[in-house]
Amino acid sequence: MANKYREVAVSEFFEKNKHLLGFDNPTKALLTVVKEAVDNGLDATEEAGILPDIYVRVKNIRNDIYELTMEDNGPGIEKKYVKEVFGRLLYGSKFKSLGEEGIQSRGQQGIGISASILYGQLTTGEPAKIESKVKNKVHYSCDLHIDTSKNVPVIENEKNLETAKEQGTKIVIKLKGSYRKSKGVEDYIKYTSVTNPHAHIVYVDPENKKHTYKRVTQKLPKLPKSIAPHPHGTELGTLIKMLSRTKSKTLYNFFRNDFSKVGDTVARDILFSFQVRKAGLKQTMKPTEVTKQQAESLLTAMQTAKLQRPPTECLSPIGEENLIKGLSKEYKADFVTACTRSVSVYRAIPFQVEVGLLYSSELPEEQSIDLIRYANKVPMMYQQSECAIHKAVVGTQWRRYGLNQPKGSLPIGPAILTVHIASVWVPFISEGKQAIASYPEIVKEMKLALSDVGRRLYRYVSAQRKKYAEEKRIKIFTKYGVEVATALSELTNENEEKINSWITKIIDKQRL
Ligand SMILES: Nc1ncnc2c1ncn2[C@@H]1O[C@H](COP(=O)(O)OP(=O)(O)OP(=O)(O)O)[C@@H](O)[C@H]1O
Ligand SMILES: [Mg+2]
Repeated sequence: MANKYREVAVSEFFEKNKHLLGFDNPTKALLTVVKEAVDNGLDATEEAGILPDIYVRVKNIRNDIYELTMEDNGPGIEKKYVKEVFGRLLYGSKFKSLGEEGIQSRGQQGIGISASILYGQLTTGEPAKIESKVKNKVHYSCDLHIDTSKNVPVIENEKNLETAKEQGTKIVIKLKGSYRKSKGVEDYIKYTSVTNPHAHIVYVDPENKKHTYKRVTQKLPKLPKSIAPHPHGTELGTLIKMLSRTKSKTLYNFFRNDFSKVGDTVARDILFSFQVRKAGLKQTMKPTEVTKQQAESLLTAMQTAKLQRPPTECLSPIGEENLIKGLSKEYKADFVTACTRSVSVYRAIPFQVEVGLLYSSELPEEQSIDLIRYANKVPMMYQQSECAIHKAVVGTQWRRYGLNQPKGSLPIGPAILTVHIASVWVPFISEGKQAIASYPEIVKEMKLALSDVGRRLYRYVSAQRKKYAEEKRIKIFTKYGVEVATALSELTNENEEKINSWITKIIDKQRL
């Protein structure tokens, strides 16, 4: 038995558990590969302060084999990193342990693109083709596949290309997939353009049809800033790790420098608290000398200390103006509104909720509204009913806001609802990143934002209904006015036209 033990490489594990990463069926797999590539392109450009120009093409090579091409105008990847970035699972620049400094980005775990390459390789036997150009460096290209037993990349066909391209990355992946028009790649790209109105996206579909999603704002979203951990959300393991790695020489400085929202008063409150003194800790002590037991008492004091909420600079919401711009550029609107809530926290992790609502007579009146869910500006296309967003929408009393709502369902009406959660760490229910866990704080914020746009919708719908009823009333008056004029003329011998013009004047007065 003993000689049967062996370590399992992470890529070998995912080879067997493709569903965990969103590759459970061919339709979803194609969408996941597109999504991972586009998310990375948008992250890279925004991080570098560049307005994104993204090109996406999905080509049908034969039967169920497709080829995805994604090209961005981001900063590119240095030749020496290409291998690791694309060919090693759990390798990236965005993953931060809980408690470490973190900022909001689309990617968070360092799996997305290498898992997509792995899926392509498993289903077609073909390597991915990568091109990358960093400003003033060579335009590098290579073929890459992953040795799954070792979780290491294998590079072939390395070349330096002679091109005029200034910077950017291009990736081509062949994979087994299935293409569907509705709720697939096309909708995903369209929904992406709705919440990223600063991006110019060109999408060429398998029928070679080009879809262009224009940039409608030149303003890049505010770049989120890295923040230090907040004492309230820190867990014991993280605290111990921080104590052993800190550059601060004293415990007092450790609290002041390594956490956010800890000033002099809070640091003293923690260090002079009863349990911390009882544990024998002093503010001048070296953090590296703190024992596990002492760390526990520090944690208790940290969690009960009176603190301000975590800082908000680490988040980059879409903003009400851009939510409205994005929706109205893709759909004809009779009425459109948006609400960006202020920052809130779950497990001491900052998050922010935003809702956009568009109402249009061109949308179907008797169907459920179209709900588009977003996490860090990325549309989530699967697992709707398991998501906190769905729960919040279904749990909102839409009848109050003028929409019909069957019990336990989405409301009915000619409307599109976009709900976005921005966070340093979005609590997805699985690695496939398709649904959000229902933390009560998150559902509550969502409901507040939904009621806010709901109230505005109600005012609009009521005004419309009033206008419609008024017009109907006037139409009836006008119709019968002619008959009344004839009858009155016969009775009074007054000129019929004269009476009719009096009646018209009275009706017109009603209109004002
Ligand atoms: N188009 C790109 N331009 C520049 N850097 C990129 C690009 N694509 C990927 N990267 C780099 O490669 C890393 C790995 O990407 P990958 O998609 O695997 O993980 P991630 O985006 O960090 O997280 P997630 O697994 O949630 O997508 C990224 O963190 C980023 O640093
Ligand atoms: Mg990614």
